[in-house]
Amino acid sequence: MDNQAVNSKKIAAGKAIEYIRNGMTLGLGTGSTAYWAIQGIGEMVKHGLSVKAVATSIQSESLARELNIPLIPFSEVDRLDITIDGADEVDEKLNLIKGGGGALLREKIVAAATRFYIIIVDESKLVRHLGKFPLPVEVAPFGWELTMRRLSELNCTPRMRMAGDKPFLTDNQHYILDCAFGEILDPAGLHRKVSDITGVMEDGFFINMADIVVAGSPGGETRIL
Ligand code: 5RP
Repeated sequence: MDNQAVNSKKIAAGKAIEYIRNGMTLGLGTGSTAYWAIQGIGEMVKHGLSVKAVATSIQSESLARELNIPLIPFSEVDRLDITIDGADEVDEKLNLIKGGGGALLREKIVAAATRFYIIIVDESKLVRHLGKFPLPVEVAPFGWELTMRRLSELNCTPRMRMAGDKPFLTDNQHYILDCAFGEILDPAGLHRKVSDITGVMEDGFFINMADIVVAGSPGGETRIL
């Protein structure tokens, strides 16, 4: 990743953590942008901030542990005050495609329990219409071939996500099919069709979920959408 992209992500994360207050319960996102938010929260905890958090992936959980961010099991959560997470694409209505890091199912469960859901991105993720980034779809390993055929009937080209020579396994032991649809004009409608396919555990559309999006630019500015 080039330095400019890293800087944009770091700047966006720095702005987002300004919303955090003492006593809050937080959701920790996954990916290279959420990484900077978790680092920032770790720094705040070191300086006396008192918060509790749940992580959206094993990877983020390990990072939070290293930084001494107090973690609680998701079973103890009714509502989260703030979740800060990244995205692969953000459209003009703040609909998102997520799941490039494979954590979409947990990310969506956490997002759905969140009062104020902040998305942080470098500005290259802002698009007019979603779809250039293939839609990640988490599927059950049992019968995945048939699920893949049903997905391709929706006019996309699905690809099994691989980790070396084996299918990539999510933290929930599912597979990911990355579905190239091209430009998507009706994400909510397509989300319903994808979700209707048996064997689909969750898709990477996050429709009407983001409360704000903080976009960072390499020059160090942030834009709040
Ligand atoms: C993981 C995600 C990530 O938030 C998304 O892929 C963005 O990642 P990054 O910040 O590394 O670009 O949805 O499942």
